[in-house]
Amino acid sequence: MTPQSPRLGVNIDHIATIRNARGGDNPDPVRGALIAMEHGADGITAHLREDRRHIRDEDMSRLRAEVPLKLNFEMAVTEEMLTLAREISPHACCLVPENRAEITTEGGLDAIAAGNVLPDYVARLADAGIRVSLFIDPDVAQVEMAARVKAPVIELHTGRFCEATGEERARELKRLTEAARVAEELGIECHAGHGLTFDTIAPVAAIPQILEFNIGHFLVGEGVMIGFGPAVAEMKRLIIQARQAAFA
Ligand code: PXP
Repeated sequence: MTPQSPRLGVNIDHIATIRNARGGDNPDPVRGALIAMEHGADGITAHLREDRRHIRDEDMSRLRAEVPLKLNFEMAVTEEMLTLAREISPHACCLVPENRAEITTEGGLDAIAAGNVLPDYVARLADAGIRVSLFIDPDVAQVEMAARVKAPVIELHTGRFCEATGEERARELKRLTEAARVAEELGIECHAGHGLTFDTIAPVAAIPQILEFNIGHFLVGEGVMIGFGPAVAEMKRLIIQARQAAFA
């Protein structure tokens, strides 16, 4: 993987949200994953939440069986999810904090606070052949902790950057840039995601150490407007364009 060609992981959770609003089978997140693949997605991400508000257990099994792309299973650090991850055997698991009352994943996992449980948890997933990623805020101390618990990958939370304006946005971009630089120094693969849109992707995609972007809600929304496949293709084009411009 060259720095010029970061990967796009498409999160299909909110196709399931729309399906579940009415019950029944439509729209089917597995079909969405196949459409994303046809339009340039390099991987598929799905978050099996404790309350199963969007993705369900059978969706995860079908994604694994029917979609020939790497599957990134987002999950909370619980015994239930560890058992399911071992059964489903995805390529990767991204460990996220989970709070039943939240609308979406609000902040990164506090790897420092969870420092006593993570080494064993990460090791058990690694023993099952699963690549573990920690979804953390762009904070150097969190990145260093990820190295200490032997996580091979981190995903930097881009939510604050996407919501910020003016000077605060510049500060958030600096935090992402610094966290990605430290990750590389520590030998950790760096990904990023949350809240990214056509308008916010370019500065983040220009950070050379970020090798993968996981994007969902905006793409599903654009699916309603311009079509899901074209939205995925446009996001991939913007990512590659921003990375190539950064190296020009
Ligand atoms: N990465 C992680 C770890 C997430 O929890 C989410 C949201 O489920 C995303 C990426 C994608 O965020 P969004 O849906 O805002 O693009």
